[in-house]
Amino acid sequence: MGFKEGFFWGGATAANQYEGGYLSGGKGLAIQDVITGGDGRNNIPRRMALKLADGSTKFIDRRGTEVPDGAVPYVDENTYYPSHVATDFYHHYKEDIALFAEMGFKSFRLSINWTRIFPNGDEKEPNEKGLQFYDDIFDEMLKYGIEPQVTIVHFDLPLHLATEYDGWYNRKTIDFYMNYVETIFNRYKNKVKYWLTFNEINFCKDYTNLGITEALSRPDKVAQAVHHLLVAAAKTVIRGHEINPDFMIGMMINYSEIYPEDCNPENMWKRITEKRLRTFYTDVQNKGFYPEWKLIEYKNAGIELKMEEGDLETLKAGTVDYIGFSYYSTSVATVNVDAKRTASNLESAVKNPYLKANDWGWQIDPVGLRIVLNELWDRYHKPLWIVENGLGAIDNVEEDGSIHDPYRIDYMKQHIIEMKKAVDEDGVDLMGYMPWGCIDVVSAGTGEMRKRYGFIYVDMDDDGNGDLHRARKDSFYWYQKVCQSNGEEL
Ligand code: BG6
Repeated sequence: MGFKEGFFWGGATAANQYEGGYLSGGKGLAIQDVITGGDGRNNIPRRMALKLADGSTKFIDRRGTEVPDGAVPYVDENTYYPSHVATDFYHHYKEDIALFAEMGFKSFRLSINWTRIFPNGDEKEPNEKGLQFYDDIFDEMLKYGIEPQVTIVHFDLPLHLATEYDGWYNRKTIDFYMNYVETIFNRYKNKVKYWLTFNEINFCKDYTNLGITEALSRPDKVAQAVHHLLVAAAKTVIRGHEINPDFMIGMMINYSEIYPEDCNPENMWKRITEKRLRTFYTDVQNKGFYPEWKLIEYKNAGIELKMEEGDLETLKAGTVDYIGFSYYSTSVATVNVDAKRTASNLESAVKNPYLKANDWGWQIDPVGLRIVLNELWDRYHKPLWIVENGLGAIDNVEEDGSIHDPYRIDYMKQHIIEMKKAVDEDGVDLMGYMPWGCIDVVSAGTGEMRKRYGFIYVDMDDDGNGDLHRARKDSFYWYQKVCQSNGEEL
């Protein structure tokens, strides 16, 4: 058996972590452009500089502190911002796509930067230079037979929509977003077939993603903003199919496993409630309605969602064609409040004594991948696509320029073995595998460069030093064999 013919072996990136060119070609500022670097291993968070009402500046933790009313995040000229150059896909796209082709990629996931197309987000007419940039990229990919997979929004709301409209809390943002979607769907309808709506929709809950003030203290605002996201995602599916019935439009969720600590029923119940941070979104986007428990939760919390006429029908009609998900590590559910914790992507996790972790504390769990593939398949019976997976690690460049990364090869090999079992033994319909940061990119969680995922090394450090030259790591040659043998040679 093995992986199906045409299985999408590839790799994944996101504009704000990879592209750079942060003001080139008429691009506007995205929220990500005002976020500094941090240091994940020493718990130094990424921050934002705010211009306060009295003209003074204050730096805040981008996730741990609220943006006060009237404060405006801005680019402080004495501060380094990793997204501004990132690893400069903007100027290296031909070279990079040629390297992906050399590895044998069948598909490549990238995101469109909303602010290249609509610099402020609320313009009526798009920026032609931005549109042309992605035309050039898609043409380059198609030249090599590489199928694009496009994330419509990957954590980069236009800053203007946050400061002027309160981001996704404002219903108008749905209209601005739909104008953007309509524009890119019409423009690229003959070049792009596979789309993803919001990256890791289940992690869109703070200023960085939703662009709303009071994201920490006003659960009602977050709930309303999330409702707008879900309606927008459903409208995307409906409109996309009208524009091109062949479009395959998926959701994108971080879907990792959470094990009950033991057979204590309380721990199992904890697991169910923690999993709801994921199943809420997969249920709405696949079944087309809010689960009962969520409505009860909102009611008990005194949250009254403002639904417009037609919203429920939209959710029902706009269910996705496939489920794209990221998978890196797993966690444990326990009622023991003193349980040891460790880092995980964009949230913290409880330590699992059976698992090892990477340098950032993310627990490595290949079997967990088979478990979630089965869970998702059994619950929805929709095609699945692993659109992110991989190991963040520090790579050393040897004197002769070579980079030996057996740890990365081992991580992926173990995950592919489990994927294969899910396909061969469990009958899961899997469309593709897209390791994250197939070329080194800025870390989303920490803003570091030293946390690398790529098969391709990029010379750039945490402070912006480096000449950006590209180099093939050992994993490059290993993954080339994987792609060329359709996953048979590991
Ligand atoms: C996911 C995101 O959360 O994990 C990516 O979709 C991110 O944007 C990836 O880069 C890995 O996380 P990190 O923090 O190691 O970059």
